[in-house]
Amino acid sequence: MLTNDQLSKWDRENFFHPSTHLGQFARGEAPNRIIKGGEGVYIQDRDDNKLLDAFAGLYCVNVGYGRPEIAEAIAKQAEELAYYHAYVGHGTEASITLSKMILDRAPDHMSKVYFGLSGSDANETNIKLVWYYNNILGRPEKKKIISRWRGYHGSGLMTGSLTGLELFHKKFDLPLAQVIHTEAPYYLRREDESMSEEEFSAHCASKLEELILAEGPDTVAAFIGEPALGTGGLVPPPAGYWTAIQAVLKKYDILLIADEVVTGFGRLGSMFGSHHYDLKPDLITIAKGLTSAYAPLSGSIVGDGMWNVLMQGTDENGPIGHGWTYSAHPIGAAAGVANLELVDKLGLVENAGKTGADMKAMMQQALGGHKNVAEIRGEGLLIALELAEDPEKRKFFDPSQTVGAKIAGALLKRGVIARAMPQGDILGFAPPLCVTADEVKIVVDATAEAVEEVLGS
Ligand SMILES: Cc1ncc(COP(=O)(O)O)c(C=O)c1O
Repeated sequence: MLTNDQLSKWDRENFFHPSTHLGQFARGEAPNRIIKGGEGVYIQDRDDNKLLDAFAGLYCVNVGYGRPEIAEAIAKQAEELAYYHAYVGHGTEASITLSKMILDRAPDHMSKVYFGLSGSDANETNIKLVWYYNNILGRPEKKKIISRWRGYHGSGLMTGSLTGLELFHKKFDLPLAQVIHTEAPYYLRREDESMSEEEFSAHCASKLEELILAEGPDTVAAFIGEPALGTGGLVPPPAGYWTAIQAVLKKYDILLIADEVVTGFGRLGSMFGSHHYDLKPDLITIAKGLTSAYAPLSGSIVGDGMWNVLMQGTDENGPIGHGWTYSAHPIGAAAGVANLELVDKLGLVENAGKTGADMKAMMQQALGGHKNVAEIRGEGLLIALELAEDPEKRKFFDPSQTVGAKIAGALLKRGVIARAMPQGDILGFAPPLCVTADEVKIVVDATAEAVEEVLGS
């Protein structure tokens, strides 16, 4: 077996890590961590540190680590048939079964599922489908896509454009011209403090309408949003938000893409965020929780209205010119089937709702009174702790103080992984959906200590 020193050396010499400070990493100024195992909510690194992963990797290992049921399904599929493509009507038992399982769980009006590999490529597919749809309907001008500031939809050319975080645009010549951004549904950071949640939702809807009218409704094709903001800060929508937004979209005949890469398959305590907030999307993006990241797989679930137009399109133009070599990869599909069976068997959607509510309450109890805690918010097992210099005055810390990152570091010292979200001093918690009350207590106690270490009591 290679020594840790050898691996570390190769790591810095050869490996281009995503979302990493490249210079610091290559020069050895930023840490590396080599992970070798995982079980339940814990991972283990090569230095034999056991860490409680309260962010489930990148909020994706929903069933927890080390599940033999999924590992065995993957091995069986690899032995029987590691690969065959899905073009021109080919399928496997796993991909066909999984598409049925997804549609059985999705909102009733959804009709078909197209499989990709990542959340990013699924959203790329969605935008292509939206453009194709409007071309078939004879509306070639209706192509712009509206997304929200602080939305996260991936980091490709189109999806990086949809993402409303500066880091993903800066120096990449993004966003592309067809993408426009509207107000983030972030009640804590609203401009007018006097607004109630409902008033703020109405304000977001009227900002959206203003934008549509300024651009020209005939040029706006779709609106994309996560049911609850994820990477942009883990922010559940303010009361009445989706009702108000959907009314505007309907008025101007604009499609809704619900990006459920994080919220799909139970994270909020409902099977989908669309159920949770009563969304009627035309397209739903899924990834992470579909396989609990045991194998890469994503999907675009297409609603029946859109599906009819896509069929009309191929009747008029021939087969759809879209597909990846690895679409519906049998190994990913087998992992997906075993994963969704396990989610049901273990009652993980219910656990996310119940344990998530308990975790938020415990966090509130432990830290709600702290002088720098601006908000503890969340839905199901998607929970955020936001810090500010002066919460009363909504004066946030200067980003150069890196308060969030320091607290995440102090938590790590205590054996707990939380995520310092990229914009704002926000600690994110999204543990595997199988997390227990005892494990939640470990996370909450460690968080209280870490906050005290960095900010005092
Ligand atoms: C809501 C949402 N959409 C899309 C993506 C992109 O998925 P991927 O990283 O698999 O490309 C993510 C990733 O975190 C996400 O959170």
